[in-house]
Amino acid sequence: MTVTTKRATFLPFSRPSIGEEEIHEVVECLRSGWITTGPRTERFEKEFAAYVGAQHAVALSSGTAALHCAYWALGLKRGDEIICPSLTWPATANMALALGAKVVFADVDRATRQMDPSSVRKLITRRTRAIVPVHFAGAPADLDALREIAGDRMTIIEDAAHAAGTEYKGRRIGSHGHTAIFSFHPIKDMTTGEGGMLTTDDEDLARRVRLFKFHGVSRDAWKAYGAASTARYDTVMMGFKYNLTDIASALGIHQLRKLDAFIARRIEIAERYLAGLADVPAVELPAAPPYPHRHAWHLFTILVENRDAFMARLREENVGSGLHFEAVHKMTLYGRRARKLPATEVVCARILSLPLFPGMTDEDVDDVIAAVRRVAG
Ligand SMILES: Cc1ncc(COP(=O)(O)O)c(C=O)c1O
Repeated sequence: MTVTTKRATFLPFSRPSIGEEEIHEVVECLRSGWITTGPRTERFEKEFAAYVGAQHAVALSSGTAALHCAYWALGLKRGDEIICPSLTWPATANMALALGAKVVFADVDRATRQMDPSSVRKLITRRTRAIVPVHFAGAPADLDALREIAGDRMTIIEDAAHAAGTEYKGRRIGSHGHTAIFSFHPIKDMTTGEGGMLTTDDEDLARRVRLFKFHGVSRDAWKAYGAASTARYDTVMMGFKYNLTDIASALGIHQLRKLDAFIARRIEIAERYLAGLADVPAVELPAAPPYPHRHAWHLFTILVENRDAFMARLREENVGSGLHFEAVHKMTLYGRRARKLPATEVVCARILSLPLFPGMTDEDVDDVIAAVRRVAG
């Protein structure tokens, strides 16, 4: 059905899907007398690890905190280099910089927007410690190609902030044998308000991250306050305060149970966009990566000329949109020594994200398609 007039009400670019189960669990948590890290967080960690197929999951206060933990656990330090895409949120780079490492930015493939392994290969030096793919928009980066480049000398840390529920070659992100980090920010496919998770198969790494995330204190506070314990504790190393609260985990437990249904609806919406915009020459649609995968459709991005004006015109049509992302290598913090990344620069100048969340109706999607077609004129 063709929509000929603008929407009556504003459609945001994203809105979390919070149901009665989450509300009930948060209320139960509030009534329980234990609201910070405790039994609900322990349950959330176990269920998340089982869902993604990792041996260990450590719940953290954000995806950024999870990146800091992952880079720290690798022993990243001054003189080391990591390679990540510039098409990402600054956290991917900033947390390596926080440890004194140098961030080297790789280019992306313009059509799939995933980090381009051929660009990564050219940037390897003897100082490269880690390759950090971002599973952009919820599609997987090409892990096999990157693993081949990394060999035994370099580590892969997966920035899976967009990729809870994403599959690469038949297996979920988190089960590919690398440390992976996830974000539960409200626009993500599942949310805890703010929050993150680090997954790994390395028991010792998980143990060290558990210390690092809580002042190097060698026992959990909720166990220390419990009836059968002593109040004594020790700090065995320097650490931060990155624990996730039980209030947040109460949300996460139920969001995780609904994640596959959320993704199924996101796939329907994305397919409706792909069909509805296929014949608009002014709009460059995202291409599917050429290897087997399940796309979690965190974002539906398009490329257009005059992006800022396009976004303003969409807003006049009562359609929200998002900008994911500004090129990190061009930012003030990194820009002075940046090399050129031709595909990233085109993508970041033109990219915008259309509304995509499970609560959208087909009519909402058709409104967006009609608005984009009008603006693309
Ligand atoms: C690619 C990417 N990495 C890392 C992060 C950081 O996650 P958080 O916002 O939970 O700290 C984000 C957040 O949006 C992201 O998009």
